[in-house]
Amino acid sequence: MSAALPSAPTTVAASAATGTAAPARSGRGLVELRGIRKSFGTLEVLRGVDLTVRPGTVTAILGPSGSGKSTLLRTINHLETVDAGLVSVDGEIIGYRREGDVLHELPEKEVLRQRTGIGMVFQSFHLFAHMTALANIAEAPRRALKVPRRQAEARARELLALVGLADRADAYPRQLSGGQQQRVAIARALALEPAVLLFDEPTSALDPELVEEVLAVIRDLAREGRTLVIVTHEIAFARSVADEVVFMDGGEILEQGPPSRVIDAPQHERTRSFLRRVSAA
Ligand SMILES: Nc1ncnc2c1ncn2[C@@H]1O[C@H](COP(=O)(O)OP(=O)(O)OP(=O)(O)O)[C@@H](O)[C@H]1O
Ligand SMILES: [Mg+2]
Repeated sequence: MSAALPSAPTTVAASAATGTAAPARSGRGLVELRGIRKSFGTLEVLRGVDLTVRPGTVTAILGPSGSGKSTLLRTINHLETVDAGLVSVDGEIIGYRREGDVLHELPEKEVLRQRTGIGMVFQSFHLFAHMTALANIAEAPRRALKVPRRQAEARARELLALVGLADRADAYPRQLSGGQQQRVAIARALALEPAVLLFDEPTSALDPELVEEVLAVIRDLAREGRTLVIVTHEIAFARSVADEVVFMDGGEILEQGPPSRVIDAPQHERTRSFLRRVSAA
């Protein structure tokens, strides 16, 4: 399988030279999307999306239902293939190998290796029901990175402490609240030390009183200088945590910029009416 080839992604060195980003603690997580197009049958869901996520920054993606937010997020770790365009993380093309002017899809094994650098947290947690919190977190490093069990579990305990669940290592998902399960899912995503962490509406499935504990963990990750891309309907959260806000509508980015512009002074009527609807909900 091949895809049309847009202009090459910049290298990490080239983007560092622009000096636009405050230096991130890790310096990892430059995400570049160029000319991303995707259709499901006759429905064009992404209509040529360009987006750059600078290392160590938080990008919040807002937009109405069906505007393509999840699909866009899923192209970043190649859970969704693209019809045209290019995704790269830290200069490495995701999902494809370039041969001259043609891109060939990578074998599954290679894609799985690339995915270890791109963490994802879903709305509905996706924890293994038959494993404790500790085992859920230690599993991926053991399997994907061949980290020895003791070492993986020691790191899993650190991560549980980081998300405020040091005392729940031996609990099974059914014994945890939704907010706690989501915090385990975040710890699990962190266990592979990803360059970038993607969140798809991480608090949408939670009871209102559990939302804040999950947002607090994400805020801490932002403060640490991790690279985060978050699809969310939590406008106040996006305003407080995001460096960059992206508003999508109809498979396109309609506007983007700092929260002070996109949320507080949107240029487009469609952005304004979306924000009115969400804040009235
Ligand atoms: N696998 C699929 N097959 C067919 N259509 C799909 C598929 N995945 C998504 N779509 C369609 O693509 C469009 C964009 O979907 P997407 O899930 O990206 O939207 P979204 O912005 O995340 O919406 P929401 O806020 O409801 O989560 C929708 O019309 C959806 O029905
Ligand atoms: Mg979605």
